[in-house]
Amino acid sequence: MARKTLIAGNWKMNGRLADGVDLAKGIAAEVKKLGKPSCEFLVCPPFTILSSVKKALRGAKVALGAQDCHFAEKGAHTGDISPLMLTDLGCSYVILGHSERRADHFESNELVNKKAVAAHQAGLKTVICIGETLEQRDAGKTIAVCSDQILGSVPDDSTAADTVIAYEPVWAIGTGKTPTASDVEEVHAAVRKVLAKKLGKGNANKMRILYGGSVKPSNAKEFLSLPDVDGALIGGASLKVEDFMAIAKNSGC
Ligand code: 13P
Repeated sequence: MARKTLIAGNWKMNGRLADGVDLAKGIAAEVKKLGKPSCEFLVCPPFTILSSVKKALRGAKVALGAQDCHFAEKGAHTGDISPLMLTDLGCSYVILGHSERRADHFESNELVNKKAVAAHQAGLKTVICIGETLEQRDAGKTIAVCSDQILGSVPDDSTAADTVIAYEPVWAIGTGKTPTASDVEEVHAAVRKVLAKKLGKGNANKMRILYGGSVKPSNAKEFLSLPDVDGALIGGASLKVEDFMAIAKNSGC
C-alpha cells in the first residue's frame, strides 16, 4: 500500500512575524524547485503567524497546520482557538496531543480524542502524537503506552484520509538522542496493528505513521526508509530551510 511521505515541521513556540515569514518563503521557494514533489510538505507555525505564513507559502505545495485546537466550535473558552477558526486561516492540518501539551497542559487521551473529533468535523486533518517517556521505556512499557495512547486518543471513526499518527519518544525530542532504527520499526509496526484492530485493516494500511524526535538530515534516510515509517515530524531542524529541505531530499522527496 503506497503511502505518500509527509515531511512536517512543528515550529513550536518559535517564529516572530519576520523570521516566520522568511522561513516560510524559503521553504516555499525550495519546494517549488522540486516541481512535482513525491512527498507532501506541511508546516505548523504558532497561531500568531498562521495567516502571514499562509500568504508566504502562496503557490507552493506546502500545507499549513496549527499546533493545537479546542474541541468546541465557539464559546466561553478564554485564550482558546476553535478548529473552524483554523480553517478560516487556511489550515488543513492540526497537531494534537503533542507530548509537550500532554505535559505542560495536562492533556489526556480523552481530551485529545475530543479535539480530534472536532477537528475532523471542521474538515481538518489531524496529526495525533504518541510516545513514551524514558521511564516508561526503561520499564519495558513502550508498546503498551503507545497502544493505550492510540486506543484513547484516536477517534473510532478516524480514517487514513483524516488522520496521521506521529510516534515521538519523549526522551528523543530536542535531545539529539534517538531510538535505533529497529526500535522505531518495532513501535511503528505495533502501532499499525493496533490501528488495524481499532479502525480496520484498510485504514491501518493506508494511514501514515510519522517518526519524530531529533530528526536531522544525517539520520532522516535511516528512519524514513523503514517499511512502517511514512514521514517525519520535525522540530528544531524544521526551523532552518536547508535542514528541513535536506531531510526531505534525504528521504527521497
Ligand atoms: P525535535 O526535532 O526538535 O527533536 O522535536 C521533535 C518534535 O517534538 C516534533 O513535534
